[in-house]
Order: sequence, then structure tokens, then C-alpha cells
Amino acid sequence: MMDWTDRHCRFFHRLLSRRARLYTEMVTTGALLHGDVPRHLRYNAEEHPLALQLGGSEPAELAQCARLGEQWGYDEINLNCGCPSERVQRGAFGACLMAEPALVADCIKAMLDAVALPVSVKHRIGIDRTDNYAFVRDFVGALHLAGCRTFIVHARNAWLRGLSPKQNRELPPLRYAMVHQLKADFPDCTIVLNGGISNSEQVQAQLQQLDGVMLGREAYHRPWWLSDWDVQFFGETPMARSREQVEAQMVDYMLRQSQQHGTTWYPIARHMLGLRQGLPGARRWRQVWSDHRLKGQDPREVMALAHGAQLALA
Ligand SMILES: Cc1cc2nc3c(=O)[nH]c(=O)nc-3n(C[C@H](O)[C@H](O)[C@H](O)COP(=O)(O)O)c2cc1C
Repeated sequence: MMDWTDRHCRFFHRLLSRRARLYTEMVTTGALLHGDVPRHLRYNAEEHPLALQLGGSEPAELAQCARLGEQWGYDEINLNCGCPSERVQRGAFGACLMAEPALVADCIKAMLDAVALPVSVKHRIGIDRTDNYAFVRDFVGALHLAGCRTFIVHARNAWLRGLSPKQNRELPPLRYAMVHQLKADFPDCTIVLNGGISNSEQVQAQLQQLDGVMLGREAYHRPWWLSDWDVQFFGETPMARSREQVEAQMVDYMLRQSQQHGTTWYPIARHMLGLRQGLPGARRWRQVWSDHRLKGQDPREVMALAHGAQLALA
């Protein structure tokens, strides 16, 4: 998720689940081919399994970027065919690509030829007011022919005109049945459902019919939920970490980032503000960790303040 799931966020999430697959923010081919590659592709070794999401619509450029992703050690390349923003439409990628399955198929082929990694697609169930299943079935069918086997389906249309990206995550109705139908029609594919899932019961229900669930906003805002996932969905032993231990590990990470890259704790801490949600004192804890006046402080001191130590700023 743009501006949310950066490498600091992913490092934090990995402290909560060993098994969940993490995805980068969308990185455009333009940003990689003409911009600062390390800035966009750098990540922490702990983040695996990790997928790089690309935005673009030019097969040769996507192939080159997929190769970069492979060189940097990503585990999967994902193509964004779900973003409805007007900026993205002007670049002719994101959700508007669903109207051009032949072009997307060429993109997939080019990427699959370029790398040994799995190449997946994240898409919607339709664009604008189309509500016939045949539209998404034919889109998936064309990519299946091109060799794609993993589809992450945000189960609502993207309305390309008149709605902001934020409204496009709320307004068009969710239609999970269409995703279930895709699994029935493409049983050899990994079909992952996305959109509007907010608790483990809903995840379990979808896993009865589908191969996976992708979680966005709820996971970001209520990160402690992730600490149930390894046990509930992957049959693993719990990590046996408390919230306080996770916070302390984040503080160690903040200190390392400061030494290695000169990053202050502030842009790192913003991702963990939901960690104590629902606990007594959560509000004060969140206020301290989001207080920009403390930016220059050592994060160990900020943690102490967040847990009630008296303010002792010079
Ligand atoms: C702030 C924000 C940024 C997002 N950026 C991306 C993105 O870069 N790529 C993408 O495929 N989806 C992006 N999305 C959409 C989410 O991945 C997801 O499809 C959507 O929020 C629905 O899932 P949810 O109900 O679990 O949040 C973004 C969503 C939000 C809230």
C-alpha cells in the first residue's frame, strides 16, 4: 500500500508473522528505470517472503524491472492492474489495464521470460459499471494463457471516473462470489481474495474455498492481529512475543536505521501506532510515539516516555 507498507512497516509486520507474504508499495517502471533504484528496492533481509509490486504497461520495461527485482532478491513479482488513480491512468497502467488483456498478457510473458520468479497479478473484478463475470473471466483467461498462475483479486470494480482512489476502496460493492467462480473456472491457479476482510473468521471462511486472502487496511491499523496468523492459518507454533517485546525490537531497529542511514525513529514509529489498540493507556502511548517534537530524542527515551516516564526534555 502506497506510503504505508514501506520497508520499515514490513520489518514491523515480520516481527508479528513469520509466514504472511509481504508486498511492497507499487513501484512504477519509470521510477525504477529513471530513478534511484536502491531507494525503491532496498529492504531488510528479515522481510522474506517478499513480493515486489510493479506498475507499468510496457512489456520490455516491465521485464527489465522484474529482472532488477530478481537481482535484488525478491521472491515474487506482482503487476498492479487494480489501482484506479487518475495519475496512474494517465500513465496507462493500474486498473485501466483490465480493458487491455492482450497487452497485459504480453507484459506477463515478457516478465516470465525475463525471470525465474513467479509473476502474479493484482486486479479488480471489473472496471466502471461492467458487472458481468465474463469480463474478469476473460481477463484472467488471457493471462492464464500467457503463463500467469497467481491472481490476487480485489473483489470490487474500479470506477475510473468520478471516484477518488479512497472512495474506490469503499463504494463499489464487494462481490466475493465472483472470486469463488474464478477459482472454480481456473482450479490450477492460486486465487487470493482481497477487500473488506477484518477478522480471522472471515479469513477462515474464505480459505474453505480459496487459496489465500490478502489483508490491507485492517492489518495495518490493527497489527497485533498478525500475531495470530501463523498459528491460525499456517499451523505454526506461536512466536511467543509480547507487544512490549515487539516494541523493544522496533526500538533496536530504529537505532540501527539511525546508525546506518541517518533515519530518525519518527517515520518508522508511525507504522506501529496501532500496536496497543484496545489496551489501557493506548492513547497516551500513541500520542508519544507520534509526537514530532520528540523527533530528536533517542527512541529508547521515547519508549520510556510512552510507558509513563516523566517528561525530562532539556
Ligand atoms: C493507503 C493505501 C495505499 C494503497 N496502495 C496500493 C498499492 O500500491 N498497490 C495495490 O495493489 N493496492 C493498493 N491499495 C489497495 C489495497 O492493497 C487493497 O486492495 C484495498 O485496500 C482493499 O483491501 P482491504 O479492504 O483489506 O484494505 C492501497 C490501499 C490503501 C488504503
